[in-house]
Amino acid sequence: MKIAVLREQTDGERRVAATPETVRKFVALGATIAVEAGAGESASIADTAYAEAGAEIGDRAATLEGAGLILGVQGPDPASLAGSAPGAWIVAGLNPFGVGPDGGRARVDAYAAAGFEALAMELMPRITRAQSMDILSSQSNLAGYKAVLDAAAEYGRAFPMMMTAAGTVSAAKVFVMGVGVAGLQAIATARRLGAQVSATDVRSATREQIQSLGAKPIFVENVAGIEGEGSGGYAGEMSAEYQAAQAELVSAHIAKQDIVITTALIPGRAAPRLISDAQIATMKPGSVIVDLAVEQGGNVEGAVLGEVAIVHGVRIVGHRNVPSRLAADASALFSRNLYNFLNAFWDKEAGKPVFPDDDEIVQGVRLTQGGKVVNARLLS
Ligand code: NAI
Repeated sequence: MKIAVLREQTDGERRVAATPETVRKFVALGATIAVEAGAGESASIADTAYAEAGAEIGDRAATLEGAGLILGVQGPDPASLAGSAPGAWIVAGLNPFGVGPDGGRARVDAYAAAGFEALAMELMPRITRAQSMDILSSQSNLAGYKAVLDAAAEYGRAFPMMMTAAGTVSAAKVFVMGVGVAGLQAIATARRLGAQVSATDVRSATREQIQSLGAKPIFVENVAGIEGEGSGGYAGEMSAEYQAAQAELVSAHIAKQDIVITTALIPGRAAPRLISDAQIATMKPGSVIVDLAVEQGGNVEGAVLGEVAIVHGVRIVGHRNVPSRLAADASALFSRNLYNFLNAFWDKEAGKPVFPDDDEIVQGVRLTQGGKVVNARLLS
């Protein structure tokens, strides 16, 4: 089995889908690995490091020649995969519910039409067996950390309280909205920097997690449907009554905050709107909001994808692809996720992965098979 690791084509994507560590592990499984020249450059991995680990380095055509398995961070354009083996697997973040040319149903259809077996790693089920394969978790964790550093970089004040001969600097007040993987890491990071941290979520199970990190939970009380739990540990959409109560609670709280980090997502839908322009107007000038959901439509009114917008004197940070801003670590974790997935299904005798139709993980991630779109979430 030849595995191809491609140089990412998407603008601004700095990550890579294999590292010398995972190359060694794939070689140990008996695979041949080809890495496109320069694939790891923006993640600080030289071609020579891949070669030392046992990879062949070549141009794109040589890398793809006869490859039965193609690894990517983002989904490659099927038209750019000429020379790969018929029915090759594509294992990457394929953004099947996204809009735009790099994802969405049209792209999935194109994989099927070209005969690729596309496996979308972001659809990994949230089950214990799959935790080490979960790219959403590994990348969100880093995004939550980086969001706080991005906020600190935009903020014209310090995070910790400092008592100096020239007087006291007060601690920054940080409010984290959405306490999933990214939010938990944002809380922990802001605490480590010395901020006073509060946080909210629609899932009441997060209350204890917030407290255990030393932050203050801010929760809507006494409103029907406050459990907020949808399926698979994810949030569901909230009732109008809940949304109104949440807006009121947030309005009172937000005016006193210096930094707000929003991370709220609902799978398969646009991100919920959590902060309005009127609420931003109540914040102090120089405050900073980081909208980690900006690529899914944004939690914050006025957030602009790829920019730092200044609204009512508040800086709203809307960076694209935040994990890619920590490309070396993000690549290391992403690559291990891919390896862990493939290793779990690797058939030593066949010398390639075997994906059983009745396996919950396979059913979750498989988009196309035998020229057809087969994923239940895409067909429903
Ligand atoms: P996510 O990225 O889908 O959403 C981020 C957070 O936003 C979630 O906590 C969600 O409840 C919250 N949210 C949604 N709408 C909101 C609103 N209107 N207001 C405030 N908050 C809102 O979530 P993520 O980070 O993917 O984690 C979801 C859950 O999955 C967590 O419980 C996490 O612990 C669990 N998980 C389980 C894994 C496993 O068992 N393999 C692996 C990773 C996560």
